[in-house]
Amino acid sequence: MNDDKIESDLTVSIKVEDIHKNIGSQSVLKGVNLEIFSGETIVLIGESGGGKSVILKHITGLMRPDTGRVIINGTDICQLKENDLATIRKKIGVLFQNGALFDSMSVGQNVAFPLRERGEKNYSILVEKVTESLKLVGLENHIDKMPSALSGGMRKRVALARAMIARPDIILYDEPTAGLDPVSTGSIDSLIMEMQKNYGVTSIVVTHDMKSAKTIADRIAFLRDGRVYFCGKPEELGNSDDPIIKKFVTGNHL
Ligand SMILES: Nc1ncnc2c1ncn2[C@@H]1O[C@H](COP(=O)(O)OP(=O)(O)OP(=O)(O)O)[C@@H](O)[C@H]1O
Ligand SMILES: [Mg+2]
Repeated sequence: MNDDKIESDLTVSIKVEDIHKNIGSQSVLKGVNLEIFSGETIVLIGESGGGKSVILKHITGLMRPDTGRVIINGTDICQLKENDLATIRKKIGVLFQNGALFDSMSVGQNVAFPLRERGEKNYSILVEKVTESLKLVGLENHIDKMPSALSGGMRKRVALARAMIARPDIILYDEPTAGLDPVSTGSIDSLIMEMQKNYGVTSIVVTHDMKSAKTIADRIAFLRDGRVYFCGKPEELGNSDDPIIKKFVTGNHL
């Protein structure tokens, strides 16, 4: 079977269709197109301030495009009212760039949050699942701590446990390994790959770490000047003769 045939057999999970977004006087997204297949891991790279986090916010419905559409499992989420959007959001786990933990809640309460949102009230089930999820990130002994008592890297791992706990169909990871040591980075990369392999999760991972990108990506999308400038397999990116791609990639040690 050739690659074209394989691709035509895949189901599109997320389709970003020609989105434009101005924020204030700045034109941040200028026609972004991206298709993510079901079960695929796409890594999104590009300059700082280029709009990567803004794209993720469009996919969760936190931001709406000026023009264009975001289609998730066949539904155009830009047309949805808040109630219907909430239903779609339950299928998406998000690791925000800054971790964004609730400071007034313990680690355990933070991680339990997506399950509670989905209506889980059984205390022993909550404890069991929270412990299991914290074990994945090596923090099961910190369940009762408050976020202020954690290091930056630990907060990030708690946020990761929270993004994964409800076994969402889609997980968006905004710089999951930024600021982490190489060993923690490797274990988070492995975790992202396990979520894909064991649960068929569709993922978008924003990162500046080209080594991680190469390890976890099925395809890499390079955002430049408000558009997806390149999207393809990691080796295609690495072998590209395009000077713009080469400059970005070599500067980032692929
Ligand atoms: N809520 C907001 N209000 C005003 N400007 C915003 C807002 N969100 C994003 N921007 C602007 O949009 C641009 C893109 O921001 P974004 O956070 O998406 O960049 P990024 O590619 O994620 O960068 P980084 O790699 O540094 O995280 C930036 O110029 C930023 O200042
Ligand atoms: Mg960002």
